[in-house]
Amino acid sequence: MTSIIPPSVVPLGRRQPAALLSHREKDKLIERAFLGLYRWYTSRSQETRNWNPDKSFDWRALRTNASADVTTIVQGFFAVEQYAPDYTSELVNLVRRSHGRSHFQLRWGSEEEKHADAWENVLLFSRQRSPQWIAEYKERLRSQQWTLPFPDAITNLVYTVFQERATQLNYLNLMAVASGKSDKAHLRGQEDPVLASVARTIAVDEAAHYNFFLEGVRLYLYYYPQQTLEAIRTVITQFSMPSSHLVPDWDKFAETVYRAGVYGPRDFSRDVMQVVFRNLGIESRRTLEEGIKATRAVPNFDANATQQTAIWDTFDYGLVEGDVKRLHVKIGKYEQEVGLSDLDPTEFVENPELPKAFGLVNQERERS
Ligand SMILES: [Fe+2]
Ligand SMILES: [Fe+2]
Repeated sequence: MTSIIPPSVVPLGRRQPAALLSHREKDKLIERAFLGLYRWYTSRSQETRNWNPDKSFDWRALRTNASADVTTIVQGFFAVEQYAPDYTSELVNLVRRSHGRSHFQLRWGSEEEKHADAWENVLLFSRQRSPQWIAEYKERLRSQQWTLPFPDAITNLVYTVFQERATQLNYLNLMAVASGKSDKAHLRGQEDPVLASVARTIAVDEAAHYNFFLEGVRLYLYYYPQQTLEAIRTVITQFSMPSSHLVPDWDKFAETVYRAGVYGPRDFSRDVMQVVFRNLGIESRRTLEEGIKATRAVPNFDANATQQTAIWDTFDYGLVEGDVKRLHVKIGKYEQEVGLSDLDPTEFVENPELPKAFGLVNQERERS
C-alpha cells in the first residue's frame, strides 16, 4: 500500500528506496548469477574433480573383512545415492526454465551417479554383499520413486544446502572411521585406506555441491530476504535425509550411524545447522524464529518499510551482501578469462531495499 501514498505524505524515517527492483528484475539478476556460477562450477569440476568410480580406486586392495556396522553404513549411503536419477529429474523439471540452474542440475546429477556407483563398488569388492544381493536391493530401492520434498523452488534449494552439508558430514565421519580415527571402541581397527579415499573423494564433491547451493541461497536471501528466511525455517523444522522414507532398512542404518558417531541429531544441530547459519549470517535458530515473528507482527498495511526493517534485523545482511559481491567477482574473473566479459558480462546490481547505513535500523527502532 505504501507505493500508492503520495511521497509527501509518507512519514519521515520510513525508508523509501529511490527505485525498488521488481520481482522480474530480481529474478533476472538471480538467474544471471546462477548461469555465471554454473559455468565457473563446470569448468572447475572438470579440472579438479574428474574422477571415475571404477578406475580412481584400487578396488582389489579394499579390505574384505569390514565390520557389519561399516557395511551397514556404506549400504545406507549407497541406497541414498541410488535415487540420483529421481533427484536429478525432479530438480531439473522444477528449474527447467532456467539455463544456469537446469544445466547445473544435470552436471550435479552426473556427479551424484558416480557416488552411487562408487558405494556399490565398496559393497561388492568388500565381499560383504553378493552381486545378486546388490541387484535385488537396487531393484527394491528403484521400485520406489523419490519426489520433491517441497512444492516451491526456494524451499527445495534451501533443503539442498542442508542436505549437501549433512551428506558431506556423513562421508567425512566415515572417512575418519576408515582412517582409524574413530573414538568408538567397536570401530577400532577398521582402517581401510581405499574406503577412506572413496569417502574423502565423495565428500569433496558434496562440499562443492554445498557451496553451489549455498551461493544460490545467498542470492535469494539478498534479493528476497523474507521468503528465504521462511524457507530456512520450514526446512530446519522438518529436516530428514533424502529418501529416508524410501530406504527399506532405514532405522537400522540410522541407529548404526548414530552409534558410530557418524551422524545424529546433535551432528545436525552443531555441524549442519550452525554451519549453514554461520555461512548465511544468521546468528541462531532463535534469532531466525524471533525475526520472522517480528516481521509478521507488523501490520502489512502502510508498514512495508517497518516490516523491511524487521527482516533486515534477522540476519547479517552486510555479510551476505559481501558474499554476493564476492560471487560476482569470481564470476567476473572467469568471464574475463574466457572472454565472455567482452560481450555479455554478469554484473552485480545492489538491492536498493538494503539499508544503506547501519544507523537506519537503529533510527527505526528509536522511532517506534
Ligand atoms: Fe552424493
Ligand atoms: Fe551432493
